[in-house]
This record gives sequence, C-alpha cells and structure tokens, in this order.
Amino acid sequence: MRPCRDPSRFAIVLLLSCSLPGTASSQTGAIDQRVDDLLSRMTLEEKVGQLVQYSGFNEERAAAIREGRVGSLLNVTGAENTNRVQRIAVEESRLGIPLLFGLDVIHGYRTIFPIPLATASSWDPELVTAIETIAAREARASGVHWTFAPMVDIARDPRWGRIAEGAGEDPYLGAAMAAARVRGFQGDDVASPDHIIACLKHYVAYGAAVGGRDYNSVDMSERSLRGIYLPPFKAGVAAGALSLMSGFNLLNGVPATANTFTINRVLRDEWGFAGFIVSDWNSVGELISHGYAADARDAARLALEATIDMDMMGDIYARQLADLVRDNVVSETLLDESVRRVLRAKFMLGLFDDPYVDRGTETAVILRDDHVAAARDAARKSMVLLKNDGALLPFSEDIGSIAVIGPLADNQTDLLGSWHARGRPEDMVTVLAGIRRRAAPTTTVTYARGSTVTGVETDGFAEAVEVARNADVAIVVVGEREFETGEAASRTRLGLPGVQQDLIEAVHQTGTPIVALIMSGRPLAIPWLAANVPAILQAWHPGIQGGNAVADLLWGDFNPSGKLTVSFPRSVGQVPIYYSRDITGRPPTNERYTSKYLDSPNTPLYPFGYGLSYTTFEYGDLVLSADTIAPGGTMTVSATVRNTGDVAGAEVVQLYVRDLVASVVRPVKELEGFTKVFLEPGEAQTVQFTLGPGELGFYDRDMQWVVEPGDFKVWIGWSSDEGLEGSFVVGAD
Ligand code: NOJ
Repeated sequence: MRPCRDPSRFAIVLLLSCSLPGTASSQTGAIDQRVDDLLSRMTLEEKVGQLVQYSGFNEERAAAIREGRVGSLLNVTGAENTNRVQRIAVEESRLGIPLLFGLDVIHGYRTIFPIPLATASSWDPELVTAIETIAAREARASGVHWTFAPMVDIARDPRWGRIAEGAGEDPYLGAAMAAARVRGFQGDDVASPDHIIACLKHYVAYGAAVGGRDYNSVDMSERSLRGIYLPPFKAGVAAGALSLMSGFNLLNGVPATANTFTINRVLRDEWGFAGFIVSDWNSVGELISHGYAADARDAARLALEATIDMDMMGDIYARQLADLVRDNVVSETLLDESVRRVLRAKFMLGLFDDPYVDRGTETAVILRDDHVAAARDAARKSMVLLKNDGALLPFSEDIGSIAVIGPLADNQTDLLGSWHARGRPEDMVTVLAGIRRRAAPTTTVTYARGSTVTGVETDGFAEAVEVARNADVAIVVVGEREFETGEAASRTRLGLPGVQQDLIEAVHQTGTPIVALIMSGRPLAIPWLAANVPAILQAWHPGIQGGNAVADLLWGDFNPSGKLTVSFPRSVGQVPIYYSRDITGRPPTNERYTSKYLDSPNTPLYPFGYGLSYTTFEYGDLVLSADTIAPGGTMTVSATVRNTGDVAGAEVVQLYVRDLVASVVRPVKELEGFTKVFLEPGEAQTVQFTLGPGELGFYDRDMQWVVEPGDFKVWIGWSSDEGLEGSFVVGAD
C-alpha cells in the first residue's frame, strides 16, 4: 500500500490533470473539442441550467428540463423512469443535452453491502473495489450515472452518526479505502456499463464537527487539516475521482462551500483537480444562514468563485447566476469553466452517444447471484470478533440448543443500514433466518424478541429469559436502528438504546453463556458487555446477507478477520478518542497532576486495529534493513507471521511509526502500512514494508513536508496497541 501523505503524490496528480482522470489524453482532446463546440452554441440561461440540480421529478421539473434549465437530477432511478425523463432532455430541449442522474449509492444499489465503516474493517481494498464495482453496475443499469460516494471524512467522534459512512479514524487507512472505492465505482472507463462517477465528500473536515453534532462547525489547524483530514481526499483525487462534494460545515470561520483556501488553492491549484464540484444539499443557500453571504445573489457569487460547479437543490444558481453575469459581477469565463467541467463529465460517461439504459440489462443485473454472494463475503469479512472467552465460538455441529434473542435478531429493515439506496427489506436474510438455515437438524433454535430497539417496554423479557434458560447458548442481537445512524443522527449517549442493556442483563441472570451480536452504525460504549459476557461479535449493519454471514462466523465456516478502524470508547466522556494521539507533557501515572480522568482509564475499551480470530498468530523476526537512513532514503521493515492455531485464517498485519523528537511534536504512533495475509495452520509468511519520506515525514511549521533527522520507532503489530518494536535513526544529510 503506497502512502498518501507523500508529497510526491502532488506530481502524480498534476500530471493526471493534463489529461482528465479516467480517460486517455487523445480522448480528452476530442471531448474538449466537443465541449467547446457545444458551449459556443449555448445561451447564458442554458449554461446556468447545466449547473442546476434538483431532487425528484414532476411536471414543473419537466418544463424546466425542456427549457434547458436543469443539468442534473438526484433521486430519480430505474431504467424506465430515467429513460422517460432523459427523453425530455435529449429529445425536447433545444440542444438535447442529457441529464446527469445522481444518487447516494453508499453501500450498494439494490444488493446492499455492509455499511462503509464495516467494509473498511476488512482492511481489504480489493474487496472494497469489487463491491463498489457491483454497486456501480447495478446503479448504471438502473440509469444512475453518479454516486455521492465515497464519504472519505475522517471521523473520530462516534457521537456523529455519519461515522457509519466512512472508513473511521485514520488518514492512512482512509486514503487507501478512498482510492479503492473510487477505482471500484469508476473503473478504467466511466463510460462502460459497469461504472459510474464517484464523488469524494464532504470537502472538508466535516467529520470533526464540534460535539459530534451534525452540520456543526469545525475549527482546526492547517497541519491537522493537511495531515489528517485531507489525505483521503488527496488519495481519491489521485485515483481519478471525477467529482467532489463540498461540506455543510464552517471551517475556521469560512463555510466549506465557499472556502477558497481548501477548494481553489489546495484542491484546484495544488492537486490539480479538474473534475466538477457539487454543493451539498442547499449548502449554497446555507451560506446565508451561516452569516457569510448577505443574500442569495451574494451566495451564488461566493460559491461560483469557489468553483462550486453545481448547486444541489438550492435553486440559488438558477435564480441568480445569469443576472450576476449580465451585471458583470461574475465573469462569463468563470461560468463557462464550471459548465465545461459538468459537460466534460457527461461526455466522459458517453451520455451524448447513448443516453438511455436497457430495461433487460437492469433486470439481469440487479441482485445477480454473484452480487449477493459478494454481499455475504463482504459481511463476514467486515465483522470484528471483540471477545471470545473460553473459545465459546465457533459452535460445534452438535450444539444442542440455541436461544436467539433481541430486537435485531429477526429484523429486516434496520440491518440494511442508513443510506441503503434501493435496498429492500424483503431481500434481507435476518440473523434468525441465517442461524436456522445453518444449524444442524439436531439443534433446537428458539427465538424471543425480548424488547424493541428504542422502546421502554419490558414485557418481552420473561419470554426471553425463558428461552435462554432452556438453551445451551443465548445469542443476543442488539444495537441501533437504521435511522439512529447516518445523517442527522448524532447521539449524546453511546450505550445500547432503549432497554436492550436491561434485556441482556436479565438473560445473563440465567447463567446461560451469551454471544452478543452488536449491529450498529458506530462504536457503542459497551463496558458491561466486555466485562460480563464471554463472546462479542461487532457485526455492524451488515446488509442483505447479514444473517448468512453471521451464521458463517458462528459455526466457523468462516474465520473472523475484521479489525477495528475506530477506537471503541469505554464511555461517551472519552470521545473524541483515537490511537494516534499527541503525547502530553504529563503522561498518565498514579500521580494526581497527570493527564487522565478521575473516573476512567484513558485507554479505549478496544483499540484501533484490534480484532480476534479463531486461530492464533505469532509474530517474530522483526528485521530492519538499516539502522540509519538518510532523510530522503528508504528502508524495509519485515516480520514473520505464523498461524499457530488449528484453523486457517487471515491476519491484518499493521505497520506503525513514531518520530521521537521533532520540530512539531508527532503522535505516539501512526499507521504507515498494512497488509492482509491468509495462512493455513502452521504456515508462516514474511511481510515486508518500505519506509521512506512519505511515511516518515510530516508538515512542519511552514507547512512543508519534511523528514527530520533523529530517532524513530517502528512496530509491526496486530493492533495499534501491540506489536514487535524496533528502532532506527534518520541521519543528517
Ligand atoms: C445531504 C448529505 O449530506 C449528502 O451526503 C448527500 O449526498 C446529499 N444530501 C444528497 O442526498
């Protein structure tokens, strides 16, 4: 995995920007000619129209499309629908410019995969690319050209519901996942029937909203921005993402949607991003609510000057831009640049050559067998085994009786997760169904819901206790409802909602061993479970094959291999909590005046990078190719990983680095590499990583990427907390 903090990436991106990402330069030239020709024939109103996006379709929209006043629609899907609406644009408008149809295809279109936070926990970029290709294929066949994904916001605060949509807390892993998802959505040729345009969002730092409250403001240093929050965007741009969405948040007092520093300077000038930018839903209009723009006219000007090319649902561009140009407040050249970027995307998609989709293909592609199989594989690779005392899992074939308990055990809607595009409850294999299907005929499976997810009624407890008492094991399936995660789903409490905690405690009283399955969109604070139940599987919102995937893991047909990409707090009071923290002047000790809580350890309940397996892995032979390297030099670090257990399994091997003394203090540890190895029992593999300027440097006080001479530590490990430790020196030049 190549680093994305490495400033040499700039060079790659700048080269790419000479041709458009995703197309050969000869093709780019031809597209540019067609764009220029079209642009020369457009009226001012038609140009503005290309920058206007509305949600849904009705007669009013039809009239606007006919008049060339709409460039894109979101939330219009299905071959029949999109063809019907597209026909109006192509056959009834003066210039016949096709519409761009966009949708939030966040974790699948109809075949719903686990939420992105879950699939990131696979630490498997190839898997992620494969599922986004499937999502793109189904979406494209249904007339959708553009997804508002991937969300690449770094999120370190589980109060923020949108943590579900991203890859978690770490910039290195986030960058790898961002690039993998872009590759999956767009492929090599976005005109092909398997692909759609990706959209990196929400630019930028939205995940750092104060208090974890959605839409809230962000204030952070340029170093944190460049070192932590920008890398996944930069990696997505380098991977060729053709579009980007600006965020709702303020960043250091300036709205993200009019932020000329992050957009014009960093994204366009430094990185050479040539794709188009869409605002978030009415975030151009919200420039007024923020107190940044005086009125709609001011908002339109500020957003266009920040090269926001398309106004999502704000109606501000539609009402203001033509007048602004006519009044010479905004130059037509600036407007033309935005229109060019949108038209280019439409040409690259091949929409001018073939604007329609085939209904037969849509039917053939949706929920194809291999898509559903991929959903099951993704779900089992995303789940993280947090605890397994006494090897309670996996079950043996001859287990006598299992009680399945809990409000999410037989639930077909919530397990789809937030933003489930066109996913349907009836496609969902519930946990109960998956267990019944897998259990041997001699195993008795009983079920009691016990309670709802969020309600306060406890009348179902007695039945739950009864089935648990009569079983060899109780599987308790608890967590969050779909609407409790995602957008506008911030929480101040991170425990199990409703009376689910009481339900588990009641079941625990029976003495029957409990396997807790947590189906959530965020890390929940579960200290009681960690202390009291023998087995915990973090299953997230696992998508339509969740029940089968759970059964695969429970019986050991598949060995768990997921690892956390976010730290699990002990309590909400610890958040934001993340492994790559800065060291304080007073690290915690038993002394009073040190950096700690009076009522909780500083450490998380489960750290970043943590996850158990049914086998054991032993790490050894840490070898550094050099004791000392030059600041611009590279070295390798390797270790041998052996499967010392009885079953085959996959292990995520992680590389962490620390610069011990620097002109800007470095975090205690930073992920700088990872790889996943699959090992048969007894098998060993040597894993090697390369360290160079990209991994060893940081942004200094002048925001220059530097590698400073001095002592470094390196770890190859199985979580951010544990591993083999070595040291080396970066010498003076
Ligand atoms: C608002 C959300 O913030 C954004 O992520 C999403 O893509 C748009 N709505 C469109 O649904």
